Amino acid sequence: MNITVTHKLATRLLEAGAEPVSGQQLAEEFGVSRTAIWKHMKELEEMGYEIESVRKKGYRIQKSPDSLEAFLVQAGLKTEKIGRRIEYLEQCASTQIVAHQLAQEGAPDGTVVIAELQTEGRGRLMRKWDSAKGQGIWMSVILRPDVPPHKAPQFTLVAAVAIVRAIQAVIGLEASIKWPNDILFGTKKATGILTELQSDADGIQALIIGIGVNVNQEREDFDVEVQDIATSLHLESGQLVNRRKLVQEILHSLEIYTQMYIEEGFAPLKELWEGHSATIGKAVRARMSRETLEGIAEGITEDGVLQLRTADGRLHGIYSADIEL
Ligand code: BTN
Repeated sequence: MNITVTHKLATRLLEAGAEPVSGQQLAEEFGVSRTAIWKHMKELEEMGYEIESVRKKGYRIQKSPDSLEAFLVQAGLKTEKIGRRIEYLEQCASTQIVAHQLAQEGAPDGTVVIAELQTEGRGRLMRKWDSAKGQGIWMSVILRPDVPPHKAPQFTLVAAVAIVRAIQAVIGLEASIKWPNDILFGTKKATGILTELQSDADGIQALIIGIGVNVNQEREDFDVEVQDIATSLHLESGQLVNRRKLVQEILHSLEIYTQMYIEEGFAPLKELWEGHSATIGKAVRARMSRETLEGIAEGITEDGVLQLRTADGRLHGIYSADIEL
């Protein structure tokens, strides 16, 4: 059986949505017999699809497998650039490592690496990132913006805005952003973003934006030591969340807000970020490698630096820290 035709058939039916497509029409479009179409449908059922055969009307997909395979994510993807190339892996050490490699080999702007499972998922500050199989979204996006390297941190903030908005569009709940880029429900973290840079004397060669979203975990699925500080979209919304829809929405939102950044600069994004922020205006503790400061988080600068005013009235610029609310 020709697997490419089977995938294309799935894409065609997914894009048709609730509208059945007749076997005759599919046979003509794909240049194969109706018997071949029927065999491809059986193949799809073996892959985990539930296909309804509507009398006199044709086929429609009732349920598709919970997989983030490239052709499934691309069926119905609304972007022009981000996700037009997707590298899908059942398993890898870290999508960041794969994306760095692809970027060095010249992968185009907007390339996405997605894995079902990461064995060495990594977070900020050299921490480990739990990436259990099929329960979340573990992906890295390669961007090649024409901006100087010192502006790279702004992209993390842009990504945070894009993701909060995508989550809201899919599950209808508003998360908040803890500086610089943790996405929270209450005080619990549902998403982390890790931005890494490839640059040389000519400027940024590639930005690798790593996105980890806890989607369908139950509390017991998290390591015991993070059970009280981590959450998933499923735990927050009470529904099983469609990971594919969420990836599509995140990629679309990322394209909209990075485009806004390129066209209008950081100012509108800074305003949006502050609007979603769980940090600004709050009393916070900033733990850094050498010292810990307590004060009021007053805002972020144009470079995404957190402005913290301590009780003695001094204003401190925080570049990298763990923030406690
Ligand atoms: C953090 O909050 O510390 C950032 C977590 C980033 C996790 C994602 S999952 C996909 C990508 N691959 C990784 O190894 N890390 C990022």
